[in-house]
Amino acid sequence: MCPAEKFRAPKGMRDVLPPDIYIWQKLEKTAFEVLSRYGFREMRTPVVESTALFSRGIGEATDIVEKEMYTFEDKGGRSLTLRPEGTASAVRCYVENQLYNLPSPQKYYYWGPMFRYERPQAGRYRQFYQLGVEAFGSDSPALDAELLSMLRHFLLKSGLEGLNFQINSIGCRACRPDFIKALLEYLGAGLEGLCADCRRRYSANPLRILDCKASGCQELRKGAPRVTDHLCDGCHDHFDKFQHYLKLLDVPFSLNHEMVRGLDYYTRTTFEVTSENLGAQNAVTAGGRYDGLVREFGGPDTPAFGFAVGMERLVELLRQAPGQDVPRPGIFIAVIGERAHSEALLTAEVLRADGSWVEVGEHTASLKNQLRKADRLSAEYVFIIGDEELDAGSIKWKRLSDSASGSLPAAGVRSFLSGRR
Ligand code: HAM
Repeated sequence: MCPAEKFRAPKGMRDVLPPDIYIWQKLEKTAFEVLSRYGFREMRTPVVESTALFSRGIGEATDIVEKEMYTFEDKGGRSLTLRPEGTASAVRCYVENQLYNLPSPQKYYYWGPMFRYERPQAGRYRQFYQLGVEAFGSDSPALDAELLSMLRHFLLKSGLEGLNFQINSIGCRACRPDFIKALLEYLGAGLEGLCADCRRRYSANPLRILDCKASGCQELRKGAPRVTDHLCDGCHDHFDKFQHYLKLLDVPFSLNHEMVRGLDYYTRTTFEVTSENLGAQNAVTAGGRYDGLVREFGGPDTPAFGFAVGMERLVELLRQAPGQDVPRPGIFIAVIGERAHSEALLTAEVLRADGSWVEVGEHTASLKNQLRKADRLSAEYVFIIGDEELDAGSIKWKRLSDSASGSLPAAGVRSFLSGRR
């Protein structure tokens, strides 16, 4: 026989267990409640897609496509990739299912794991969950603002306050080339001062130089042209109106001229929501407009806007917040003897059918051990059933929070419990 091998989860991938799982579930529930009020419905797409979908959609010269995709060949020789994000899949789904024939805007959300082969660190994983939202068919800046307001309500309802909404506009195909020309001219004078990555980006993806964190690049950028000073009239007007609607809807925001995002499909609005209570990986949500992507994937000209929430980062913030309620059993039934055990199993089923979380002890364990277990589980009530109680048709109860106790007729358990709610 081979020696036993201890397996570990793959690097950068994690198990989620209680008590964290309760935070996850609360976030999921809150998200679906808030999103449905804005007319968003769920879209479920495969976790793998053809590799070309991502390289075309996200951009060949992006970090994701260059270095971070989990790509493999299936047995039929097709190149497939574990999705690194959800927007490309959502657009593929929108076009393939001709959702553009339905009334606009079409509003969808999705939820699930994404995969990026990044260097793991706090808040950055190789499998992480996103809640994504995509709205197709409206170019109105009012939509951008409405969805940021929706996001804000979701975050507030989840108990997250003090987050920073940063916005920018990176223009469109008509005006961005002008800006890039001005940027290249400005940076060209100090090329040697850029980091190795940015020297490469200079020709492959110059916009990304704007959000490089290397100190030399930051220094060199001081005084660089601002994208918002190079917007065409249409993009300028869109950005102005976006800000007007944000104010109308009471969404606090700040301008960040250097926020360009790491995916190539964006046009006009880009935004990020960040927290000061996370480390280097401080963006909890990011998104923007991608008015050209549906067309690029073979659909009709369709403007679109969306964002994705990084769930692990929200969970981390909520972990730091006090007062997370962890569900606990309503009743633990301790039993003395086999007959009592059988009776307890039946009673538990009745109470569960009424909606209570009920745990039943085992007659092979001592009463002391059963009570210790009830305590460790933080059960609200302990019921005790033994021969004496069976003969008398009663149950002893004890409330663990204040040690109040008494006995009640076995037939009255349900009304006893409904009285406590
Ligand atoms: P993204 O900025 O690549 O955008 O990711 C969105 C969010 O996902 C980030 O702000 C972060 O919270 C979380 N995230 C990203 N990578 C990781 C990671 N390795 N570990 C943990 N969390 C991570 C997108 O993915 C776009 N598809 C968003 C979008 C939707 N734009 C338009 N529609």
